[in-house]
Amino acid sequence: MKIVRVLAPLLSTTLPFAAAIYIPAAFAQAPAPKNVPAPPPILLGTSWYPEWWPESRWPIDLDLMQKAHIHMVRMGEFAWSSMEPSEGHYDFDWLEKAIDEAGARGIYTVLGTPTAGPPAWLTQKYPETLRTHKDGRKARHGNRQQFNWDNPKYRALAHDIASRMAQRFGHNPYVIGWQIDNEYAKVSYDAATQADFQQWLKNRYGTLDNLNTRWTTAYWSQTYSNWNQVPIETGYGNPGLLLSWKRFVSDTWRSYQKNQMDAIRQYADPRQFITTNMMGWFGGYDHYVVAKDLDIASWDDYIGQGHLDAAHKGYLKIYWNDSEDDLTRGFKRKNFWVMETQPGHVNWSEVNNDLNKGEVRAMAWLNIGHGAETISYWQWRSALNGQEEYHGTLVGADGKPVPLYTEVAQVGRELEKAGPALAGTTPKSQVAILHTYPSFWAIDWQKHNKNYDPIVELLSYYAPLRNIAQSIDIVQPTAPLDQYKLVVAPGLNVLSDAAAKNLIAYVRNGGHLVLGQRSGMKNSDNGLQTQLQPGPLTDLLGGRVAAYYALENPVPVEGQWGNNTSQLWAEMLSVDKPDVTVLERFGKSNGWLDGQPAAITRKVGKGRITYIGAWMDDAGMEKAAAWMTSISHVKPAFGPVPNGVEVDSRYGKDHTIFILVNVSKASQTIALPAKMQDVLNGGTTQSVTLPNYGVAVLSESKK
Ligand code: GLA
Repeated sequence: MKIVRVLAPLLSTTLPFAAAIYIPAAFAQAPAPKNVPAPPPILLGTSWYPEWWPESRWPIDLDLMQKAHIHMVRMGEFAWSSMEPSEGHYDFDWLEKAIDEAGARGIYTVLGTPTAGPPAWLTQKYPETLRTHKDGRKARHGNRQQFNWDNPKYRALAHDIASRMAQRFGHNPYVIGWQIDNEYAKVSYDAATQADFQQWLKNRYGTLDNLNTRWTTAYWSQTYSNWNQVPIETGYGNPGLLLSWKRFVSDTWRSYQKNQMDAIRQYADPRQFITTNMMGWFGGYDHYVVAKDLDIASWDDYIGQGHLDAAHKGYLKIYWNDSEDDLTRGFKRKNFWVMETQPGHVNWSEVNNDLNKGEVRAMAWLNIGHGAETISYWQWRSALNGQEEYHGTLVGADGKPVPLYTEVAQVGRELEKAGPALAGTTPKSQVAILHTYPSFWAIDWQKHNKNYDPIVELLSYYAPLRNIAQSIDIVQPTAPLDQYKLVVAPGLNVLSDAAAKNLIAYVRNGGHLVLGQRSGMKNSDNGLQTQLQPGPLTDLLGGRVAAYYALENPVPVEGQWGNNTSQLWAEMLSVDKPDVTVLERFGKSNGWLDGQPAAITRKVGKGRITYIGAWMDDAGMEKAAAWMTSISHVKPAFGPVPNGVEVDSRYGKDHTIFILVNVSKASQTIALPAKMQDVLNGGTTQSVTLPNYGVAVLSESKK
């Protein structure tokens, strides 16, 4: 399968973008403490665990890092037993020494709070802090993430260690930021958490009558007469109960995080940012909720098995990673960090293949192209014993650089060189794709066709749109949308009143909204809307989904996007207003669908609303994407690039940076739309030739 880059007219880089240019957050702009230079704008980093090694080894590691142009180490997460070897006895001297030794080499520290790895003394003395599995078993020591995120005692202990760290390092000139915990994921199903969930429900719903009505609990005699009857349900439960539990989980992660943030903020300089490392499309909690309090978003970008140009659930892996970058950028709607990425291979896939020579560098530049400000490799060196002995590293068990070290050092050299040009720049998109966790969960809980994957559905729009527009934002439907020429909601299943209001205003103000399958079916309680899909947007659309069909086999779709098929799902649309245009119709299939509208559109003032009830294959989705971008006057950010080349752009005040990455096997020559500066090689150029995994970083001054 090849990456199709659609040929499209050149775009003048003077296009007026309504959105403000990204300005680095206040902490990044704060003056460096006395005698310590400010860190470079774009950082290469690695996770380093000095507590595993004798101090005599540290200078060797740090010298090797310095040689690789590494300017950031992440330390401390998981090191609780080294920071507090027994209750109330703290030892931060080693950590301070490690921070200072790194700092002396121009390597700045991000400190992780160690709460994803509580020490043995803690869980032995306070067994109530251990989480309870779904089946009622208690977690045990010997792994990580064995804590209960809702437990008050654990929170008190977490607050204490975070505040001790902040007291010691909150003014350390080399500490530039904090990471709370590590990859929030595991929750607890104990009785006390259930009681807290019930209290949370009381706060949300006020009365049991209200809850019973909104969840329609008369169905199957689920009616509750006491709050303490409400169970925790994660499987085939009442949809309102399922969604509430997920919301409780998300709010509880947020307050778990806030507890530690408050401890840090009390003592730390405001210049020190606070983040946590998220996990792309992982759906354990609502990332928009958890990101609210953070200064910046960051994520851990792993390919696992395969390569950027290998198929993954029907799409190229590169699109998954691109979309995860865009998703993460959307959490705070500004640039982000890649807090972890794989140095060659991981240890948790079925086949832990290495990335090809050059692919690690290509991946780093793709992240930068999507708005990453830091690329950090997990990890520097494997612990000599431990669960992850086989994971990729930059230094081997013998303490010497692995072959990949040279490639990562090249990335470091290049980030140093390109840093000044990249500083203060950020991607800007004319197209937004809407995403919400409630919609994602709601479809996942009631797939109705076992292969229906809401992320794959989103990708079926993302891939062709990304090829045309060359930049996509992924945001919530309640985000400001006026800056976008086109807003696409592939599966906005749960549509809140606030989101509906925002979308209606967007269309009325001249935007083009495209709704995909299963949109507008559910209300905020995951119950059915009383208007058929798209619920509160039906009037605006002048049509609706008269019926939906899970498909055993693809059905034909015909119309102005050519002859195609709809897979997995088909929605028969009805036309209710005379000014609605039918774009596509279903062909002969189950009788019900034969000849019925499959895609409709309606012009509303200067705006437009479109509904697509077919999930077409790649060719059809490409044509649909070409239609929706052209009718919305979306132009590619850069211009034509050959198949297999990705182009990303970052906009600054006076210039635009274009990053070109060739993931195709063949060498590719790209004609530039204008004369540009070659940031990595110097000089100006009007064309670049890129070998497999080749990268070009170009700068164009604003005219
Ligand atoms: C996650 C964790 C790391 C490490 C890596 C291995 O991202 O945050 O501690 O386990 O996976 O790939």
